[in-house]
Amino acid sequence: MAKTTITAALPYANGPVHIGHLAGVYIPADIYARYSRNVGKEVLFICGSDEHGVPITLRAKKEGITPQDVVDRYHGIIKDSFEKLGISFDTYSRTSSQTHKNTAQDFFTKLYEKGVFKEISSEQFFDPESKQFLADRYITGVCPKCEASDAYGDQCEKCGATLSPMELINPKSALSGAVPVLKETTNWYLPLDEIQKNFLEEYIDSKKGKWRSTVYGQCKSWLNDGLRERAMTRDLDWGIPVPVKTAEGKVLYVWFEAPIGYISATRELLPNNWEEWWTGDSELIHFIGKDNIVFHCIIFPAMLHLRGDNYVTPAEVPANEFLNLEGQKISTSRNWAVWLNEYLVELPNRQDELRYVLTSIAPETKDSEFTWKDYQTRVNSELVGILGNFANRVLVLIKKYYDGRIPNYQRTEEISSLSEKYIKPITEKLNSFKFRDAQSAFMELSRMGNKFLADSEPWKLVKTNPRETENILGFAYEILCNIAICSEIFLPETHSKLLNSLNINLKETQKTSFWADSTWYIPESRNTIGEVELLFNKIEDDVIDLQIEKLQNSVPAEATSKPEKEMISYDDFSKLDLTIAEVKDCKKVEKADRLLHLTLDVAGEVRTVLSGIAEHFSPEEVIGNQVLYLQNLAPRKIRGIESQGMILMAEDSDGKLRFMQPSEKVNTGAKVS
Ligand code: MF3
Ligand code: ZN
Repeated sequence: MAKTTITAALPYANGPVHIGHLAGVYIPADIYARYSRNVGKEVLFICGSDEHGVPITLRAKKEGITPQDVVDRYHGIIKDSFEKLGISFDTYSRTSSQTHKNTAQDFFTKLYEKGVFKEISSEQFFDPESKQFLADRYITGVCPKCEASDAYGDQCEKCGATLSPMELINPKSALSGAVPVLKETTNWYLPLDEIQKNFLEEYIDSKKGKWRSTVYGQCKSWLNDGLRERAMTRDLDWGIPVPVKTAEGKVLYVWFEAPIGYISATRELLPNNWEEWWTGDSELIHFIGKDNIVFHCIIFPAMLHLRGDNYVTPAEVPANEFLNLEGQKISTSRNWAVWLNEYLVELPNRQDELRYVLTSIAPETKDSEFTWKDYQTRVNSELVGILGNFANRVLVLIKKYYDGRIPNYQRTEEISSLSEKYIKPITEKLNSFKFRDAQSAFMELSRMGNKFLADSEPWKLVKTNPRETENILGFAYEILCNIAICSEIFLPETHSKLLNSLNINLKETQKTSFWADSTWYIPESRNTIGEVELLFNKIEDDVIDLQIEKLQNSVPAEATSKPEKEMISYDDFSKLDLTIAEVKDCKKVEKADRLLHLTLDVAGEVRTVLSGIAEHFSPEEVIGNQVLYLQNLAPRKIRGIESQGMILMAEDSDGKLRFMQPSEKVNTGAKVS
């Protein structure tokens, strides 16, 4: 049997993993790995932490710790939470390991000795104060497209434009604030333009109709635009040193070495025969998100091809689109995410629920969305209402009528027909990487089981026709056995519980026949069932409400530390006459739901202000407060009342308003400047 090497994108060890990563990469990869093992393939399922790259150094700098501290912290958190979710990696390694360093350097050296790289000198930004070359991310400046003041050298986060640092207006070093200067440096480039002609065109074309159209399409469009050479070494100090004498102070480009991490992990696990997994007819499959396509479908295949020695290139790259959360893009910086490590604590023993929901909404063909309400509905109506309900009814009835003895029964439907109708649709979908559909075909078994019980009503027949009742419950038991086998790849916790309740032990050959030949399973033993365990519990509203609230609190919805308005001069600012006033009286304004009529004291003078805060405060809540008051705003008549200036409020992310007050009471009329 051929070897199958399944990889899941190495997560950056600069934060925990969130549901977007899980839905896009790790859960589909795990389903496929579990399936492939059951089919009888020789499988290696590989992952690890991606521990180099500029974002990690930025994070370390911000927290005042070393990059190694950052990756040590997150590597542990990530590894642990994957394990708890039941992701069945054969190994979870890391790119700061010595084996990886050796493997990546060897790989570079092999290509270097073959003369693959082009040595190119170019001018790069250099920070004269901190005396180092600056990665694109380390340079900030004004965006040439939208004029945002804090665009990065590779991207403007305001308008999304992809930039090069040379395009920035007024570039500055994020390290020292110094104005960077251009300085010549030499790096080693992969001539992708040449490789395109010699290899990539043909390689990508051979995937037409095989790869998902989203993946193939993106590759084609890169090729159509024409690839350009790309530097595989960088002037940085966090990473793997370039193994060339003249390359001091340079490290391997993170996207050069990180995919080699898959190989290093294999080598670490199987020091003697790791190469068998990377050469010959071994089948290489990469699970990734769409932002990784170019690296796994173009650059890494090019590297593997150039490496020679019978190295394989990726056979399949089932990349997914993105998962959104409650109507917005997942954002790690804004903390708009559901983090796996937190989920595992806050919703304990609900691993399968998360796996189930994320597979149901997997962004396979287009971006999709997670909401907590939808999560609740799917768990309650599908896992509890359909699967859990069927399992429970079967087991409870068997316990009740036969004291747990598994009934003797006659099957009415042919095995071949059952296989065709219920098992084949699942394996067919799995073979074409359609995990959403595969899971829903799996749920059909429970739907069918429930309908079978509802139609045949064994609880009525039990008194009048005991023979027929045994036939019904015996077959229901058989359906549940098939569900149990299937659940191993989608819902591993449920699988163990069911095996226990059903009291079956599966032999490898039985599993292979089920999965590889899509054949309905027939239980052989006829003893008694095990303990009846409840598979799923309903999720109550308060659990969901808490999660939604948490999300809303964690995110400064519109809040941003970045300026949103254009720059002003001090003179502009000094035109504002800001002072502290105290609210002496407050009443509602007739026929104006939103307005309150405030009477202010400012250094003994009385002012009238109308303020649109009636939906937030009752007049009593306002009276007595000191407030920030803009007194030279031109007066305005509203509903016949002249409003003189305005009071300033802070709006929280949840839309609540708060008064701006001095930290201690001051004399009214106190200047604010
Ligand atoms: N760390 C990258 C990301 O999260 C993925 C790296 S995949 C590898 O986007 F192949 F480069 F390792
Ligand atoms: Zn911009």
